[in-house]
Amino acid sequence: MKSELQRAAEHWSKKEKPPAEVRPRWWQHRAICRHINRRVCGTDIDGAGAGLRRWVSSRITGLPLASGVSIGCGNAVKEINLIKAGIVDRFDLFEIAEERVKQGTLNAQQAGLEGRIQYHSHSPFAEAAEERYDLVYWDNSLHHMLDVREALQYSRDVLKPGGYLVMDDFVGPSRFQWTDRNLEIATQVRQSLPARFLKGWRSEEVIPAEVRRPSAEKLIADDPTEAADSDRIIPELQRIFPEVELKLTGGAVYHLALNDVLANFTDDDLPLMKLLLLVDDMASDLGENHYAAAIAQKPSSSVAARDRDQDQSV
Ligand SMILES: C[S@@+](CC[C@H](N)C(=O)[O-])C[C@H]1O[C@@H](n2cnc3c(N)ncnc32)[C@H](O)[C@@H]1O
Repeated sequence: MKSELQRAAEHWSKKEKPPAEVRPRWWQHRAICRHINRRVCGTDIDGAGAGLRRWVSSRITGLPLASGVSIGCGNAVKEINLIKAGIVDRFDLFEIAEERVKQGTLNAQQAGLEGRIQYHSHSPFAEAAEERYDLVYWDNSLHHMLDVREALQYSRDVLKPGGYLVMDDFVGPSRFQWTDRNLEIATQVRQSLPARFLKGWRSEEVIPAEVRRPSAEKLIADDPTEAADSDRIIPELQRIFPEVELKLTGGAVYHLALNDVLANFTDDDLPLMKLLLLVDDMASDLGENHYAAAIAQKPSSSVAARDRDQDQSV
């Protein structure tokens, strides 16, 4: 019998992308990326992940950090961008899907960074955690960890004192078991859209106007790591890294209501998109957040020692 990680590795090795001309996911939409970037760094700059890189560059002094680790890095595109942006000098990358390791190795070579990127094609947690990195990076992979507490404790343990955790991830309900309120908002959004937006991109299918929770069993059968423990990310982050700075980036509309629907948006629909992103902001203020970005610094040795002394004197 295959383990959960073996099944996940096969899933991520085989996973196909939609054809380039259809753009059904939020990270393929310029206006949504600009919206998220504004929430993260204060300016609506272009490009998925650009807001995070700008926030990190303004928040962390002494860049580039010497050495980073990223777990579940996929094809390493995001890590390559961090090196190119001068945020980190070199990376250890952990990735269980063989096909993604191959793609990432090629991407690193094409970027001329093969000497600064070292792939490891297994999960890192079995190895002894030593304080060896200046950066631990999680990008849409922390929500694939079966035990978020273990993954975040590992993150703290492998950081040198004064090192940073940077995260940009799905932090919504485990196994995508959306809240009643999010289902209501997403359904109302879909029902308010003209019929042309509900045309499926895969075939003649019609996208349902009523948004429902997926079956957790089916999700697990497809990929046992999908949103396995995601609703513990924020509480565990705040417990293990009490100094964490968080930016909640919404998603109730752009991720749930507009999933697949996005393929039907054209440039002419920008005013409608802006209105929908306003609804996303309002849902975020109500507490419906699928995504968040975070920066946390592990205290330097002297601060940690002072905190220990204070604890002992109470
Ligand atoms: C949603 S993908 C994100 C990939 C990449 N970070 C990105 O944003 O494009 C999650 C990745 O985590 C990998 N993964 C899942 N569990 C893992 C583990 N325990 N150790 C290393 N990689 C893992 C999967 O194979 C998959 O490539």
